[in-house]
Amino acid sequence: MDFTAITGFKDILPSEVEPWQRLEAVARDIFRVFGFLEIKLPAMERTELFSRSIGQETDIVSKEMYTLHDSKGRGMTLRPEATASVVRAYIQNRLYQESPVQKLFVMGSMFRHERPQKGRFRQFHQIDAEIFGDPGPRSDADLIVMLLFLFESLGLSGLTLHLNSLGCPACRGGFREALTAFLETRSEGLCSDCARRARTNPLRVFDCKVPTCQEIVTEAPSVLDSICDACRVHFEGLKALLGDAGIGFEVNPRLVRGLDYYTRTAFEVQTERLGAQNAVAGGGRYDGLVRQLGGPDQPAIGFAIGVERLISLMNEVQEPQTPSPALYVAALGEEARKRAFTWVTALRKSGYWVEMDYAGRSLKAQMKRADRLGARLVLMVGENELSSGKGLLRDMAEKTQEDVPLEEVIAHMEQRLEKEASPGEGKRS
Ligand code: HAM
Repeated sequence: MDFTAITGFKDILPSEVEPWQRLEAVARDIFRVFGFLEIKLPAMERTELFSRSIGQETDIVSKEMYTLHDSKGRGMTLRPEATASVVRAYIQNRLYQESPVQKLFVMGSMFRHERPQKGRFRQFHQIDAEIFGDPGPRSDADLIVMLLFLFESLGLSGLTLHLNSLGCPACRGGFREALTAFLETRSEGLCSDCARRARTNPLRVFDCKVPTCQEIVTEAPSVLDSICDACRVHFEGLKALLGDAGIGFEVNPRLVRGLDYYTRTAFEVQTERLGAQNAVAGGGRYDGLVRQLGGPDQPAIGFAIGVERLISLMNEVQEPQTPSPALYVAALGEEARKRAFTWVTALRKSGYWVEMDYAGRSLKAQMKRADRLGARLVLMVGENELSSGKGLLRDMAEKTQEDVPLEEVIAHMEQRLEKEASPGEGKRS
């Protein structure tokens, strides 16, 4: 039997991993200065947590969840997103008691049984950030500024922020009615799923990928015509704050996002460079969810970045870097290998990536290996060098050689490596 990874599940190879590490490091750094704390959560939750929060009629819950059952027949689902789990943890661990405003972030794998294609996988990764305890619009603006700051720090451009308000329970009913009435007039053109959704959850018709349904919703009433005064003040406030921060956006009244929990602010960062899967990040406010899941009445807002999509944009700006050792010690003969092993260990303890051969191969083979690894310097030591007390240090890029006193080889090399350090071969911090 041939073993290959499951369709839609992907290996991330050592040659691909550098931008992942860069992204995580930059994100952590930015989240820190915005006061976000990391939370690590289980990959699996009770199925009802997702069906109740994301919504039964959504594609995620109705078609895409990886669900299995425990010995008592209870459903358990691999998380399709992080927000529901963060809310569960926030309530279960009473995090609202620790601080009136909680800012949390999660990094990890999510699972959705979608049809795999470019930018769409069945196991994918999100960087997710949530703010609990503030009704906005200042926290909305803060969160969006942080997201765009991250993209900017990664050198990305050509991204568009789409912004909408989905109203609140007080005004959503009015929009639902207007939308249902409109969809009734177009019922013949709707697919069978949307004919049902038009009655049960008409907002979800906006998510449908069937071309005729997509065509119909372009003429649907705008949610922005139905929102109440309080929602309008909130939305105007957010737009003004983004304007003050110099952030451009497009108001997009068709942006409803594919999850039921949103209230008021909904946003997405889109690009034209990823084909059909154009959303790099999406988020919004979900003021009713904490209460709905049994917690206190705490408003909240968050976003999630699709890491795979963001990485493909990062790779357009900069090719993945392969890290390389700072030094390769090419030792010949038993005594030289013994001595070299102590030097290598000492330099590694000082934080330098140093390599040497395990197998006792020829000098030519070792030089070839050093070159393959991209080592900048090679220290050559054989019987002659041991008896003269001087090793031969070769600069692989400059193609120059110099003697190194073996008596103080560690101090000498430390000094030299400190001077030479370049990204990927520098000292451990
Ligand atoms: P979402 O829009 O479902 O929102 O997902 C966020 C991002 O995850 C998308 O914009 C996309 O970049 C990425 N993504 C989604 N599905 C896939 C897939 N199958 N393959 C690759 N990437 C994918 C949420 O998940 C919400 N929890 C966001 C949120 C946080 N709202 C409030 N707080």
